[in-house]
Amino acid sequence: MIYRELSRFYDSFNNSIDYSAWADFYEDLFSDYAGRKVNSVLDLGCGTGSMTLELAGRGYDMTGIDISADMLSVAAQKASDMNQKNVLWLNQDIREFELYGTVDAIICVLDVINYLSDISELRKVFSLAENYLYPGGLFIFDVNTPYKFENCFGKNAFVFDDGSTYCGWQNYYSKRSGNCSFYLSMFERNPDGTYTRHDEYQREHCFSMRTISRAATDCGLEKCGVFSGFGRENPDVKSERWHFVLRKGNGIGKNE
Ligand SMILES: C[S@@+](CC[C@H](N)C(=O)[O-])C[C@H]1O[C@@H](n2cnc3c(N)ncnc32)[C@H](O)[C@@H]1O
Repeated sequence: MIYRELSRFYDSFNNSIDYSAWADFYEDLFSDYAGRKVNSVLDLGCGTGSMTLELAGRGYDMTGIDISADMLSVAAQKASDMNQKNVLWLNQDIREFELYGTVDAIICVLDVINYLSDISELRKVFSLAENYLYPGGLFIFDVNTPYKFENCFGKNAFVFDDGSTYCGWQNYYSKRSGNCSFYLSMFERNPDGTYTRHDEYQREHCFSMRTISRAATDCGLEKCGVFSGFGRENPDVKSERWHFVLRKGNGIGKNE
């Protein structure tokens, strides 16, 4: 089971991510590409809810879905600490999620799509997104690119140390299968100076631009744009993250 042990350390390891700036970027995309006003947003693979809560704080009606009950319990605790009651947290698999109704936008933040194994799983998520979006609604997600898997993750090791936990992280990427294995070992410092070790294995899949675009078309989602990183630049051979903006048809397209 992924994101069990890691859930307690996740926010500390990711504290350099500026979710506020990222949410600004989403709001720009909403206003430029959505064929309707965005009020309700579904966050697929919401994890510890950093983006879900950022958008809830800006007045959006939020739903967060994650397969990891441990990540969701961190998210729910954060919501309670912030007295944020406007989020519905659902412990579900994004490959077969069910909602009570439709939403104006769906986001999927920080590599969540890379946890899918192949194009058939991509199609499952995309067709569910299409099903639960209002016409003109947006599906925005980011992925790690082939360049990043080959040149940054491939056979590299990383370490983090936040003062209370040390994490060693080893990767193996196979270009042939497109799979990247991540072996994480976390050493949590105890009050007596000893350490408790926690291990976690994860796997991400590398999708090409063409595979993602084909799956989107197959599921009736139109591609409004693909951007490099967090701006509006076109992807180039060294892009490490692509943002896809897909839209359910029949919207009143803007800025195209
Ligand atoms: C890298 S984290 C991103 C979390 C969050 N979106 C963020 O910005 O911090 C990936 C998340 O995707 C979730 N996830 C992976 N596969 C999933 C699936 N099939 N269904 C639901 N959640 C999934 C994991 O549990 C984890 O919380």
